[in-house]
Amino acid sequence: MNFETLLIEKDGPMAIVTVNRPKALNALNILAFAELKKCFEALREDETVRVAIITGAGEKSFVAGADITEIAAMDMAAGRDLSYRGNIVFSMIEAMPFPVIAAVNGFALGGGCELTMACHIRVASDKAKFGQPEINLGLTPGYGGTQRLPRLIGRGRALDLLLTGRMITAKEAFEWGLVNYLTTPEELMDTAKKIASGIAEKSSSAVRSMLEAVHTGINLPLDQAIQVEVQHFAYCNGTEDKNEGTRAFMEKRKPEFKGR
Ligand code: CAA
Repeated sequence: MNFETLLIEKDGPMAIVTVNRPKALNALNILAFAELKKCFEALREDETVRVAIITGAGEKSFVAGADITEIAAMDMAAGRDLSYRGNIVFSMIEAMPFPVIAAVNGFALGGGCELTMACHIRVASDKAKFGQPEINLGLTPGYGGTQRLPRLIGRGRALDLLLTGRMITAKEAFEWGLVNYLTTPEELMDTAKKIASGIAEKSSSAVRSMLEAVHTGINLPLDQAIQVEVQHFAYCNGTEDKNEGTRAFMEKRKPEFKGR
């Protein structure tokens, strides 16, 4: 896969996607969104990929948001189109059949913070900064920020970030539950890869079921969501991986999962 705004690397079962516009602090322009869509569509079809990591090129920024130079020229219809298309891509990432880990190396602002929230796990360097500064541009977030942020960190803290547009440190983001793992910049990619390879060793069918159960259930009333869980638990009980996992436990050995 050759892209203008993304670098793609394969490392065993891992795909590493790097947003590569360092001169604009990796701001996501329209082309970057089109390429992210193509990239994740291709990764979804690639059966060798068990987990993906997304990061930003350079040391300063993960993604500094949507590209403001493009937004500056937009009217209402163009803004709706941008938000609609961007949300399709981030929702696609959120619904991937394998986990996507954000390795946040620097600024994760606006669309960058929104991208981390569409991922399943967030690992951040202690140099990273998070925020939704759209209010300073006379805008609301357009890639899920008003919706995923309150769901992740609660309405009070989300409204604070959304209404003040202030940045928080990775340490604060960690304390608020926006970040799962906090590391030094030097250890960021190794930490993300270690988490990724740990997940890649698990049953890929159980991982897929887990992601689907959480993704589908979270937007349903609890009684219906519990039924989603029942179906996934039942499905997993019919897999070879469940037989192997339970047998390995009883035989006191490491399971060898086949993903079926
Ligand atoms: N879009 C386009 N270009 C951007 C950008 C963005 N989001 N963020 C940074 N850049 C560009 C700058 O214009 C600058 O380009 P030039 O060298 O050509 O002047 C370059 O990247 C380096 O940036 P700075 O000189 O500003 O670097 P800094 O260290 O002084 O500041 C920063 C860093 C605080 C991140 C600052 O760049 C900044 O505030 N960026 C904008 C952040 C932002 O508002 N993001 C939200 C965008 S809107 C959005 O995302 C809406 C949505 O949800 C749909």
